[in-house]
Amino acid sequence: MPAIVILGAQWGDEGKGKATDLLATTETIDYVVRTSGGHNAGHTIVIDGEKFATHLLPTGILTPGCTAVIGNGVVVSVPQLFKELDALRERRPELGELVVSASAHVIAPYHPTIDKVTERFLGNNKLGTTGRGIGPAYGDKVNRLGLRVADLFDEKILAEKVEASLEVKNQLLAKVYNRRAVEVDAVVEELLSYVDRLRPLVADTSLMLNQALDRGETVLFEGAQATMLDVDHGTYPFVTSSSAIAGGVCTGAGVGPTRIDRVIGVIKAYTTRVGSGPFPTELFDADGEKLWKVGGEVGVSTGRDRRCGWYDAVIARYASRVNGLTDLFLTKLDVLSSWEKVPVCVAYEIDGVRHDEMPMTQTEFHHAKPVYELLDGWWEDISGCRSFADLPVNAQRYVQACEEMSGTRIWGVGVGPGREQTLVVHD
Ligand code: GDP
Ligand code: IMO
Ligand code: MG
Repeated sequence: MPAIVILGAQWGDEGKGKATDLLATTETIDYVVRTSGGHNAGHTIVIDGEKFATHLLPTGILTPGCTAVIGNGVVVSVPQLFKELDALRERRPELGELVVSASAHVIAPYHPTIDKVTERFLGNNKLGTTGRGIGPAYGDKVNRLGLRVADLFDEKILAEKVEASLEVKNQLLAKVYNRRAVEVDAVVEELLSYVDRLRPLVADTSLMLNQALDRGETVLFEGAQATMLDVDHGTYPFVTSSSAIAGGVCTGAGVGPTRIDRVIGVIKAYTTRVGSGPFPTELFDADGEKLWKVGGEVGVSTGRDRRCGWYDAVIARYASRVNGLTDLFLTKLDVLSSWEKVPVCVAYEIDGVRHDEMPMTQTEFHHAKPVYELLDGWWEDISGCRSFADLPVNAQRYVQACEEMSGTRIWGVGVGPGREQTLVVHD
């Protein structure tokens, strides 16, 4: 299996870090590649009871012998990159190698400023972004006012690009947002101060990955964010600014779609969401509180509480479709122990009409009410189970029901945060 994609099937935080780490340690993976987003992500890995979080770095950096790659589709905050690398290296000196695409866009110091003031001006309509400058950096990319990693190696070009990028932004900051204008020289000076450390990490990663695939090496693409946060296929405008679906992997890494062999969607056995936007199965009662508490549903990047709700099979089917999923990895099944009945959303009712598929318009999705089927629950603690047959029969039925409703086979099930707390259902 030379090229494998792992991505989020819901609204993020499904356990992509754990799934990536699991494959990186059980199979021989040569490269782990991030292709979208930036340090808005927070991926957790638990190794021998010790917890690690990555944001901008691919989790493969924690696997010695594995090369971690930041692809061209990522937006890179260089100080964050160094900070994360140093913090991880302090705890695990034997980190894998890191390579950064010369074509990745840079999050400049003014991008988080604009992210935050824009949110403030939106008031009640704010998106609840991570405030990391992700949207403004991607905005500059498509507006052709962005800075790419390679631009940092040409001082003259860099100064010209920063000046062009700030021309309108400074007018906006000063005249609309009542903020101080940003000085071109200060930005250029800051970015240039990173060059000596950055330069040796930078390469043509598209060429490198395609050559690796030609040699039959294995490349794992580690998705960030998720299908429902995808800028095209998510709950727009309550989305991130990148292509988080499988298609985004090709543009974000510079590999063709014919090279991808397997696409694994990571999905929680229930649903969570951070930030604003519609969420049909969201719970505001004691069940929601219990999911939040038992699931430890607090964001890894921003420390915000995650909103919680039941499993949504309409979303699972949608994610299977838009990503062409070959497998699902169902995480956090252990959190559902001790409910007599577990509701699962099988369809939506929208203005009196049943919808089995994701509705076409934003307005319809905002009006969607879940149609629930009640599945029998189980009481046993399943966190020690290590094979599918170890699970209580109702937990097995829950997994089978999720598989049938999504139309995609479930490859593995998570019963705890640890690497070892995983059951393989279909090899
Ligand atoms: P990611 O962004 O998709 O990588 O996911 P996050 O790391 O943001 O959030 C997932 C959380 O669930 C982390 O705290 C993981 O350690 C934890 N986790 C992952 N899989 C499981 C599981 O099967 N059971 C439990 N209880 N926790 C899990
Ligand atoms: P991982 O990879 C969950 C959400 C933010 C906000 C919206 C836009 O850990 O699953 P942005 O800062 O990207 O412009 O914010 O997207 N968001 C995530 N939610 N997990 C993530 O990443 C997220 N990355 C962005 O909360 O609602
Ligand atoms: Mg996360």
